[in-house]
Amino acid sequence: MQLTVNGQRREVTHPDEMLVWVLRDELGLTGTHYGCGIGACGSCTVLIGGQVTRACLTPASAAAGREVTTVEGLARGERLHPVQQAFLENPLQCGWCLPGHLMSAAALLERTTDPTPAQIEEAAGINLCRCGGYNSIRRAVARAAELKRGGL
Ligand code: FES
Ligand code: FES
Repeated sequence: MQLTVNGQRREVTHPDEMLVWVLRDELGLTGTHYGCGIGACGSCTVLIGGQVTRACLTPASAAAGREVTTVEGLARGERLHPVQQAFLENPLQCGWCLPGHLMSAAALLERTTDPTPAQIEEAAGINLCRCGGYNSIRRAVARAAELKRGGL
């Protein structure tokens, strides 16, 4: 089966396997992290067709014919995505949760570059941060929106 991941067609041989393992083990895209495996922590979050998706609960076959975006697909060459720049400015402790937060924030900014506090709260709260870095995460999401509005 073929998948489109970060704009590239990739052959996968275990379509029934959960997407997180296909990405990490078959395609070498280890930026997507595995945490709980039960859909609770969000460290495995990727976008499928622009929708925030838990890759630990989603078979790779469910992404057939749709665009999968992982954290590796956010930058455009040397140009960082606004959420990457914003999280660089607002660092987290261990970073295990980071790919999920980046992907949730990126999805939010596709919907709006002027998110309300409630939308920022939702984007920050959809994924768990075991280090309790939510203040930094909220600041990063707001900063990412500002950067995107400024054209980054
Ligand atoms: S690893 Fe998928 S939600 Fe925790
Ligand atoms: S920074 Fe450690 S889990 Fe979020």
